[in-house]
Amino acid sequence: MSAERARIREALTAIGAAREVPELARIEREVLGKDGAVGKLLAGIRDVPPAERKAFGEAANELKRTLESALAERRAALERERIAAERAAEHFDPTLPAARIEHGSLHPVTRVVRSLEEIFSSMGYAILDGPEVELDHYNFEALNIPRDHPAREMHDTFWCDREQKLLMRTHTSPVQMRAMLGLTRSGGKPPLRVVVPGRCFRNETVDASHEHTFHQLEGLVVDQGIAVGHLVRSMRTILRCLFRSEVEVRLRPGYFPFVEPGFELDMRCLLCAGKGCKVCKQSGWVETCGCGMVHPVVLRNGGIDPERYTGFAFGMGLSRLVMQRYGIDDIRHLMGADLRFLEQF
Ligand code: FA5
Repeated sequence: MSAERARIREALTAIGAAREVPELARIEREVLGKDGAVGKLLAGIRDVPPAERKAFGEAANELKRTLESALAERRAALERERIAAERAAEHFDPTLPAARIEHGSLHPVTRVVRSLEEIFSSMGYAILDGPEVELDHYNFEALNIPRDHPAREMHDTFWCDREQKLLMRTHTSPVQMRAMLGLTRSGGKPPLRVVVPGRCFRNETVDASHEHTFHQLEGLVVDQGIAVGHLVRSMRTILRCLFRSEVEVRLRPGYFPFVEPGFELDMRCLLCAGKGCKVCKQSGWVETCGCGMVHPVVLRNGGIDPERYTGFAFGMGLSRLVMQRYGIDDIRHLMGADLRFLEQF
């Protein structure tokens, strides 16, 4: 019997030292299994004198209970260790900096459009939109540029369908006509004061200051007594508000069939402070805007009496204003969709 007792003591030590659950199962089989040490010990009760059997049985059963509870305790301890190890593996350190959340930003053209919309709204202008695929009628004819008129050559047009006279608008000026007709066809009368920011398309050779897809901002004011002085003053005010400083401008005569007289308005190049660079083609001036007094034919086409009302209109090169505002030296960056460029804004 002493061999079994020794085996059971050994088992108790082995249980305390076991590192894994299968090891415990093996020990359990060896001591508590069918032919295990405890079984043999209990079977030996036959050889014990009757007077001692009771005490022997109680001692053997006590050993059995000790083994069972040692096994259960060690199993629970191993389970606790396993859970703790798992938690340690997914260790969370609240003091580490948070993962960087990628977020977008507004395109520089959108930023300038929003600034201009704010400036013009504060001056009482309504903001309009118009179709990018336009009818020949609105893009040219109603603006006093009939078919075969040489002025069409200034607009290298992307035609969608020559038969149906559909094209990608070459400027935002067609919305002038849509605005006037929108007013007069619903029985309205001037004053009319609108701006139209939007994309334009020209099939021309691209370089640092010319794109096939670019942005303009059209403006139209019609009322009684509107004169060139109102136009110049308005342009100066708008550029000053946009660039938050006095901007030098100059007017040159310009030809646009839908205005009379017509002008080109240039601003001093802010990129080189007028010294000359590739954007201003070394001239120190950037062509910013075509403008002039609305031609009487155009007013009449829009349902407005040119004897009673006059107006001014302008078409700003918005892309070029964006370049001036952010110091961008090549217009192709704007529509190039290069993230290295866009991420700077
Ligand atoms: C026009 O488009 C006229 N519709 C402007 C106008 C409106 C005149 C109302 C009178 C009354 P122009 O073709 O010059 O005009 O273009 C106006 C401005 O758009 C230019 O000064 C220039 O800043 C910009 N622009 C023209 N073509 C391009 C181009 N390919 N890439 C970038 N900007 C351009």
